Amino acid sequence: MSILKTPLQIKNIELKNRLVLPPMATGKSDDGIVSGELLNYYARMSEEGALGLVITEHSFICREGIASANQVSVADDAVLAGLTKLAETLHANGVKAAVQINHAGSSAFADEVWTAGSLFRPTEKNKEKKLHTMTKEKIAETVQAFADAAVRVKRAGFDAVELHAAHGYLLDQFYSPLTNDRTDEYGGPVENRVRIIREVIDAVREAVGDEFPVILRLGACDYIEGGNTEADALKAVKLLEKGIDVLDISGGMNGFIRPGYTGAGYFADITSAIRKEISIPVILTGGVQTAQDAENLLADGSADLIGVARAMLSDPDWAKKALAELE
Ligand SMILES: Cc1cc2nc3c(=O)[nH]c(=O)nc-3n(C[C@H](O)[C@H](O)[C@H](O)COP(=O)(O)O)c2cc1C
Repeated sequence: MSILKTPLQIKNIELKNRLVLPPMATGKSDDGIVSGELLNYYARMSEEGALGLVITEHSFICREGIASANQVSVADDAVLAGLTKLAETLHANGVKAAVQINHAGSSAFADEVWTAGSLFRPTEKNKEKKLHTMTKEKIAETVQAFADAAVRVKRAGFDAVELHAAHGYLLDQFYSPLTNDRTDEYGGPVENRVRIIREVIDAVREAVGDEFPVILRLGACDYIEGGNTEADALKAVKLLEKGIDVLDISGGMNGFIRPGYTGAGYFADITSAIRKEISIPVILTGGVQTAQDAENLLADGSADLIGVARAMLSDPDWAKKALAELE
């Protein structure tokens, strides 16, 4: 049997296979609330239940952390009814489901924004926004907002929650030396730069209990001079492993791109190295186009699970066809 089709147990949930739909922002919510259009989209993406896991798009944990106008909200209890329908829609198609929760930091859709230090991320440099450096009180409030949002995801009936610490958003802005110029215990060496992520994991774990799976999406390397390197990533994952059940690796401060690399599994060198350091399953996403690509990356030890985003977006039947190809 192919590895791609082999189930994987994560705490109390069994993923039927190793294919993951990674989070993709759709802009289809109705002012933060799950809309009929959004339900239809996820029903279509998960039709016939070929995927092992669907991680829904990044959703904002508090108004200050909103990334775009029609982003999904997990910021208060008013969103619970819609989120519950979303979980039910995905479960009705026989897939396990998680929600990615996020704070956009300096990329927030607002005139005044909060971030790790005094620096904008590279793509935000020329924006006319007032930037505030997070105080320790603001950090504590934000950590609590992540925990509260994770509880809402659990209450809505999802199987897991994913914390977004990639693609240049707030938690990545703390992790990256390109955006974190703090001189306190949240800045400087890697152990300080991941401190807020560590605190978020601990607060979320405390809030959702031991049995609820928590996934961390980490932007392992920045691929920009002066940014996080593989050595930073290897230190970071060891500091962050405790309390999470799956590590979802991406990279790039300016998105999910690795300049100069577009082939299947373009973060595979990093995920292979990370897998040797930690003992939880790793998701590898980026550039996968065919079932054989995915199978090869699993077979050569690059990952335990494979994310397929853009191929699924262009053909929601991709997963079903890909698995059939491996018959
Ligand atoms: C339209 C679109 C929206 C995305 N939104 C998110 C998001 O909300 N959160 C996230 O972590 N990654 C997001 N990504 C990145 C994808 O999850 C994935 O990492 C990336 O597309 C690379 O995988 P692929 O080569 O299979 O497309 C998005 C990608 C696309 C194309």
